[in-house]
Amino acid sequence: MIQDRIKKLTDILNKANYNYHVLDKPTITDQEYDKYLRELINLEEENPEFKDKNSPTTRIGGEVIDEFNKVTHEIPMLSLSNVFNEEEIRKFDERIKREVKDPKYVCELKIDGLSISLLYKDGKLVRGATRGDGVVGEDITTNAKTIKTIPLEIIEKRNIEIRGEIYMSKETFNELNEEKKKNKEELFANPRNAAAGSVRQLDSKIAAKRKLDCFLYHLPNAEEYGINTHYEALEYIKKLGLIVNPNIKKVDNIDGVLNYIEYWANNRNTLPYEIDGIVIKLDSLKDQKRMGYTAKYPKWATAYKFPATLVLTKLKDIIFTVGRTGQVTPNAILEPVILMGSTISKATLHNEDYVKALGLKIGDIVAIKKAGDVIPEVVSVESDRRDGTEKEFIMAQNCPICGSRLIRKEDESAYYCHNPHCDAKRIESLIHYTDRPAMNINGFGDSIIEDFYNMGYLKNFKDFYKLKEHKKELMELEGFGEKSINNLLEEIELSKQNSLEKLLFALGIRHVGSKTAKILSKKYKNLKNLMSVSYEELVDVKDIGEVIAKSLTDYFQEEKNINLINELEKQGLNFNYLGKQEIYNELISGKKFVLTGTLNTITREEAKSRIEDLGGETRESVSKAIDVVIVGTNPGSKYDKAVKLNIEIWNEDEFLKAL
Ligand code: IVH
Repeated sequence: MIQDRIKKLTDILNKANYNYHVLDKPTITDQEYDKYLRELINLEEENPEFKDKNSPTTRIGGEVIDEFNKVTHEIPMLSLSNVFNEEEIRKFDERIKREVKDPKYVCELKIDGLSISLLYKDGKLVRGATRGDGVVGEDITTNAKTIKTIPLEIIEKRNIEIRGEIYMSKETFNELNEEKKKNKEELFANPRNAAAGSVRQLDSKIAAKRKLDCFLYHLPNAEEYGINTHYEALEYIKKLGLIVNPNIKKVDNIDGVLNYIEYWANNRNTLPYEIDGIVIKLDSLKDQKRMGYTAKYPKWATAYKFPATLVLTKLKDIIFTVGRTGQVTPNAILEPVILMGSTISKATLHNEDYVKALGLKIGDIVAIKKAGDVIPEVVSVESDRRDGTEKEFIMAQNCPICGSRLIRKEDESAYYCHNPHCDAKRIESLIHYTDRPAMNINGFGDSIIEDFYNMGYLKNFKDFYKLKEHKKELMELEGFGEKSINNLLEEIELSKQNSLEKLLFALGIRHVGSKTAKILSKKYKNLKNLMSVSYEELVDVKDIGEVIAKSLTDYFQEEKNINLINELEKQGLNFNYLGKQEIYNELISGKKFVLTGTLNTITREEAKSRIEDLGGETRESVSKAIDVVIVGTNPGSKYDKAVKLNIEIWNEDEFLKAL
């Protein structure tokens, strides 16, 4: 009987597939597999009435659809909250402990792919769906069936939904991009994008070729199957014939979680697929219920995200922006990527020389780095991934805002717009004035300043102090009420009391950064004193060079600046240095420090300012002149250099103790 033969072949092929892909223990050779498969394809072609919807021949794809149908997830597919450091992990544990005594956790790798829901009816795969917005996803059943690690039938003939992650191995990803390069096609930026793109192929034959894989990690309503813990749920998923990641670990407490994280942070490169963190789940299902959910996340689980110092993405374009000094900077417009928990779609390219030194072309795949609070940067280009469609970079010759011809100064890489009336420059300098290290006027977002500028309320620094005269009009603007305007005006009033170094930095005098402003304020105590200091005297001040001295004396000679300062004085701004008396700290005062890696309990900016407050100095690079290198998690090459030069090294705890 043909039907019997079809059944027999189906069993052989399904079993062979399971042994090979799930158990990793092949029982028949590839040639035998192909022979049986061909026989089954032929039989089905000759007798289409006997073809089963879940025949192993669906693995090779074939069905082409116009669009994906929408599916509703009866139980929403939630995402996970994120934590980024030990402190946040411990806080997560504390929240759990408020409800649960002695919680046990299951640690899992956070697979960098896309989540999928698999629905089995009477043991047969009837639906594969993407997460979509959590409630409505897309029906990708035909493509799911091409994934060999997803069984078309499970061991028990029951109705069950199982969720997990579809991913592409690093090897498959590299092969795929190699092939795309050969065919001069656009390359995928990373394995996750490649997996997502493959799952959403309308032609399932193409999806089948992409060699996707799947790990399952979640059984909604597990209690209904007599299961009490998440760990048992994973065991059960395995028993049904699906793949659970082998690196799961049940731990007794949060220290066990931290050890697991440390291990995988150091060993993730050994895995054949990408992970972007660790998932921590409360083991007891009863306790999970007790913790419950927010609208978006389960409260019984969280994801620790690795500090992804480098990610690859596509450089879509290079645009030019004008800063407060008139410097025109090229900026990278990127295909959005998540880096350290935030989505990055822009990065600075500094100047023309930087772009040229990197050899960037528009359309390249580039590596992006973000360290601590620092602005994301493009650090390298994957030039071997070019496909010939990339475009050369050409530096702007005119200001993108006012159109004036840009000028590149000798000895500088930067191009400047010299039009003093250029709107972009003026808006940027107003934004700078309110910044935290400058006058620290809270409540002004960049767009408010831009709006106030365009409406004529803010053209100059002194106008901040005249805003109160327009209170009524401002309150009537869309998006502002009495309360927000009052808050803004209060902030402006408060800022008048700032110590001199903040005002001096806020004025935006070229080459006078916050550090220089502090040195000068400390030395001259009052703005009026500083204004009368000669160039010769300034160059003699420690850490003040010719460039700064010239810039300052030029600034204070210009009539419009003198008028501005007089106006600010009239408005009641404090011109005195109010600096705290420096406290002597044996371990810090007078020493030079370099920071590397991520500090968990303090931002890098704060750390620097604490060191400076205690009379220490901070530097960016390690040399023999450095006394101490402070090392956070995932330190860079500065750490290696410090070891090499035998420089004293402190970890975060030691630094905090010293403080
Ligand atoms: S559990 C209610 N476990 O990470 C349970 N998710 O950032 C929700 N992911 O949407 C998911 N590996 O796509 C879970 N071992 C793992 C995971 C994992 C990767 C993904 C998943 C989720 C996203 C949240």
